[in-house]
Amino acid sequence: MGFFTIILLLPFVFKFIHASAARDTITPSQPLTTGETVISAGGVFELGFFNSSSAAAPQSRQYLGIWFHNIPGQRIVWVANRRNPITGSAGSLTLTADGNLLLHSRTGNGVDAEASWSTNTSRIQNPCVTLLDSGNLVLAGSDSKGSNITSWQSFDYPSDTFLAGMRLGWDLTRMIEKGLTSWKADGDPSPGGFTYRMCRTAAPELMVWNGSSIEYRTGPWGGGKSWSGIPQMRTDSHFNFYFVNEPDQISYYYEAVNKSVTTLSALDSFGELKRLMWVGSGWMQYSKLPEDPCDDYGVCGAFGVCSIYNPQELCKCLDGFVPLSPSAWTLRDYSGGCVRRKELGCTPGGSGSGVGDGFRNVSGVKPPYTVNATVAAGVGQDECGNICLRNCSCVAYGVVGGICISWAGELMDIKEFTIGARGMDLFVRLTASELDSSGSKSSNSSKKHIIVIIIPLVLVSVLLFSFAICIMRRKKKSGVEVVSVKASKGKGMELPIFDMSTIAFATNNFSNENKLGEGGFGPVYKGRLGDGQEIAVKRLSRYSVQGLDEFKNEVMLIAKLQHRNLVRLLGCCIQGDERMLIYEYMQNKSLDAFIFDTAKCKTLDWPKRFEIILGIARGLLYLHQDSRLKIVHRDLKVSNVLLDKEMNPKISDFGMARIVRGDQMQESTVKVVGTYGYMSPEYAMHGIFSVKSDVFSFGVIVLEILTGKKNRVFDSNQPHISLVGHAWTMWTEGRPLELVDGAIGHVYSESEILRCMQVGLLCVQEGSDDRPTMASVVLMLGSEGMLLPQPKRPGFYPKEGAKFRNLSSPEHLSTVNEITVTMLQGR
Ligand SMILES: *[C@@H]1O[C@H](CO)[C@@H](O)[C@H](O)[C@H]1NC(C)=O
Ligand SMILES: *[C@@H]1O[C@H](CO)[C@@H](O)[C@H](O)[C@H]1NC(C)=O
Ligand SMILES: *[C@@H]1O[C@H](CO)[C@@H](O)[C@H](O)[C@H]1NC(C)=O
Ligand SMILES: *[C@@H]1O[C@H](CO)[C@@H](O)[C@H](O)[C@H]1NC(C)=O
Ligand SMILES: *[C@@H]1O[C@H](CO)[C@@H](O)[C@H](O)[C@H]1NC(C)=O
Ligand SMILES: *[C@@H]1O[C@H](CO)[C@@H](O)[C@H](O)[C@H]1NC(C)=O
Ligand SMILES: *[C@@H]1O[C@H](CO)[C@@H](O)[C@H](O)[C@H]1NC(C)=O
Ligand SMILES: *[C@@H]1O[C@H](CO)[C@@H](O)[C@H](O)[C@H]1NC(C)=O
Repeated sequence: MGFFTIILLLPFVFKFIHASAARDTITPSQPLTTGETVISAGGVFELGFFNSSSAAAPQSRQYLGIWFHNIPGQRIVWVANRRNPITGSAGSLTLTADGNLLLHSRTGNGVDAEASWSTNTSRIQNPCVTLLDSGNLVLAGSDSKGSNITSWQSFDYPSDTFLAGMRLGWDLTRMIEKGLTSWKADGDPSPGGFTYRMCRTAAPELMVWNGSSIEYRTGPWGGGKSWSGIPQMRTDSHFNFYFVNEPDQISYYYEAVNKSVTTLSALDSFGELKRLMWVGSGWMQYSKLPEDPCDDYGVCGAFGVCSIYNPQELCKCLDGFVPLSPSAWTLRDYSGGCVRRKELGCTPGGSGSGVGDGFRNVSGVKPPYTVNATVAAGVGQDECGNICLRNCSCVAYGVVGGICISWAGELMDIKEFTIGARGMDLFVRLTASELDSSGSKSSNSSKKHIIVIIIPLVLVSVLLFSFAICIMRRKKKSGVEVVSVKASKGKGMELPIFDMSTIAFATNNFSNENKLGEGGFGPVYKGRLGDGQEIAVKRLSRYSVQGLDEFKNEVMLIAKLQHRNLVRLLGCCIQGDERMLIYEYMQNKSLDAFIFDTAKCKTLDWPKRFEIILGIARGLLYLHQDSRLKIVHRDLKVSNVLLDKEMNPKISDFGMARIVRGDQMQESTVKVVGTYGYMSPEYAMHGIFSVKSDVFSFGVIVLEILTGKKNRVFDSNQPHISLVGHAWTMWTEGRPLELVDGAIGHVYSESEILRCMQVGLLCVQEGSDDRPTMASVVLMLGSEGMLLPQPKRPGFYPKEGAKFRNLSSPEHLSTVNEITVTMLQGR
């Protein structure tokens, strides 16, 4: 009996001994062997041996690495012997008396003669290797004069993970390049094909490479705390970013504002850079690069501009340039890029003095690739222009982060940002006659941002107009070109195609009793399949005349989205003119049926509402960045949040924007879809949408859930004040709790409600840059005690003295009612 007790206790005894023996150093007399680990003084990181195996290389191999000690899951942040796994059963890490750190395989009683890895250092006295709480493994000792020196540190040789305090870039005195190299695959630390390195052009930038081809670039440093190609870094409230460009080093590093936050940034085996944050129960993805199709290097070729805000045509040529191959361009193959319509007054090496050339201001863009650029520091905008004008090789100039950059050769990889995101002003050299002619052209095209405000009259004419277009298009149908949507890198998955008769039977022949409601795209029916499964059938209006293949493609994209907070698409049905989408059925219908109903709202207490808010946030985060595609929902509202049996929220109608988009084969129209009251100002007024317009809608939803009131018809006595505006007033007056829905009951956490209100107000801020990303929202909602920024003025809130546009008055809203409005935007 006693014997068994001892056996059972042994593991604990060992653990205890182990813990008490934890050390943070390796010395010549204390090597490290398989089974032992070194733990940093504060218990943050752990160094030891780990076994790794992947599907490609199922045989387990042993590596020496560093991982987080206090976080489950052994997230490896550094690997020593990536190229040479240990072959024997165990490894041993020894420090020689003169300061060389050697990793050997153990075989039998001895060790392999040849080291699997070594720091190749020597000539120091009293060497000691220490694992620091930053995750840096440092080999230090004293030199012949007795002064302390660091002869090697793991931060100089990064693996795939970029930790706070680590520097990426170049040590120019020792000529060491510090970049990230991806793992070959999940579970296989050997070097993969992707690297993230600092390119030492005149204006250095970080780039992701696939072998020797560029995948993505950050653009040169934009000054302040951001890369010019990632303007959202500027308003990041969780991190500070730094760039150093000095004779001895070019480096980039960051730190978390809250030092106790555990975070890392890693280059995964697909070449994506992901920033993760530990949120107690798991790693949350905070950001991802590349973010959208325009981040792919050179998608639009030379002198092309990429803009995701024009989903019909990702690419356009710079003013004064035309596609090199117009036929390829219409087939959406933009790789050939653009060429000058008219030659310049002067050409490099040729004659001409540059007289007669001028510059066109292309504002709000990511600076082109700087490989052939030259820089001049301490030069203002005007002098920068003179430098460029005087040099016939110079094709464009601009000031980025206080540095004057002159580009020669081709302008590659220009991306257009939203108006709010403020990219650089790029001045492109054009010949004088071109400047005149395209000047008038550009004033024409600027009209594309003028929007048609929804007043009933206009709505009616718009409907007539779209109807006319539909008819026109029907006639042209044979000429419609079907372009297949380039799906994610994975293989396409099969989506069941239902038979029309099955669906007709399931919905009782689309009977009125089965009708659940009418959405913007057509009626929705409840149905029951033969096997008893309940379904919701969305019958798309016949006006949508998009190509069949394209419809299928789009549906496939939606089908790939799988998340517990998104309604699942079960299949589709295509027959003749009919296009239907079949979804899982949600027992509790939509959220608006609860929060705006005087009786049912009482069933939603605060904990439930908080869970619903969190669920919507997670679903939206997934749409924005966790799925391989970046999807802007564009019509987020409480009636599009459905509730299942357990009252879990599920976002529905996601991806509908894409289907609508496919509808516009006609180049002359761009539809703005969305619901009044949920649309961000820049979207409603300029047709500019981005993830931040969804964030705005999310903010409105949060405020509606908190208050039980609708944003649009908040108080009919004061029609000019929306819920958003009212919440802002109450917030600034310090009495936000007075707004909270009485039906919530008395049991609630005041701080939780205040936090939600603050997050809601942050989301509806007027400036899209100011609004947090969904990653940030999820983080803010989930972290008790985190310091949140103070919200600024919300969108659609009357400015002092400004004449209010009366956009949210209920009069014309009653016309639009619950239906999603579709506006046509002339361009
Ligand atoms: C790795 O695997 C080897 C043999 O397969 C085993 O002896 C060793 O203990 C394992 N190491 C770790 C750290 O799990
Ligand atoms: C040490 O030197 C060997 C042989 O020159 C080389 O293969 C290895 O990469 C070097 N190790 C490190 C960590 O630089
Ligand atoms: C050198 O390092 C040792 C151990 O870290 C320390 O005790 C000593 O004070 C240091 N000496 C100098 C000159 O910095
Ligand atoms: C990376 O390059 C390889 C070979 O050049 C290519 O097969 C692969 O598709 C590329 N990967 C990506 C993500 O572009
Ligand atoms: C370039 O154009 C933008 C937008 O029209 C404007 O804000 C900016 O001031 C212009 N830059 C210069 C230097 O004229
Ligand atoms: C002209 O510009 C090119 C490319 O930017 C540069 O290499 C060259 O030195 C410049 N020439 C003069 C005279 O500044
Ligand atoms: C930079 O210059 C080289 C050599 O002239 C040329 O091959 C390359 O295409 C240029 N790259 C860009 C982006 O202009
Ligand atoms: C910093 O983060 C920790 C852990 O996430 C949290 O407990 C603490 O409240 C945060 N501090 C601030 C000032 O946000």
